[in-house]
Amino acid sequence: MRFLPQLFANNQSWASQQTHRDPEFFKRLCAIQRPDYLWIGCADSRVPANEIVGLAPGELFVHRNVGNIVGRDDQNCLAVLQYAVDVLRISHVIVCGHYRCGGIQAAFGPPTTDPLEGWIAHIREIRQTHARELALLPGDEQRWQRLCELNVIAQVQILSNIPTVVRAWQRGQQLAIHGWIYNLNDGLLHDLEVSINKPAY
Ligand code: CO
Repeated sequence: MRFLPQLFANNQSWASQQTHRDPEFFKRLCAIQRPDYLWIGCADSRVPANEIVGLAPGELFVHRNVGNIVGRDDQNCLAVLQYAVDVLRISHVIVCGHYRCGGIQAAFGPPTTDPLEGWIAHIREIRQTHARELALLPGDEQRWQRLCELNVIAQVQILSNIPTVVRAWQRGQQLAIHGWIYNLNDGLLHDLEVSINKPAY
């Protein structure tokens, strides 16, 4: 007996739609993967990377985790980054957070249990760094949403010091890093204007 039959039915209809629209679709995808972008986003089910930016399979390389964190010692994230930059030669890394992020909210709460707590520690650290700015905001809601932004900005900074990125810039490879945030309320992306673009265009 097969579990989750609905998902398989969905899959069959999706695959046939793709083939109907473009008979060569899967053949082409199999032959080559040449995305120009790496997306580092939150695992949140409401933030589907490809859909938000209207990109098809093959056009966006994706890494997602709770709170869109670039862990300096996270082998998973570092391997994705290395493959994207060194092998796929993508030219843009997009760190995309979102407002009302549960991972960010957890960083304001009491300690939870590992492994989640170990992960949230990355965000607690950013909260600590910006404690003064956050304290000046009028309420918890504003502090939560601002930390969603500050977290993205911090991840862009961290990325810019990861050896894979530094080495790409040193050898003259065109690579830009961007920090964006997604609004669940209206489906719109906002550029946090913290892009680092090297070597300069
Ligand atoms: Co989130």
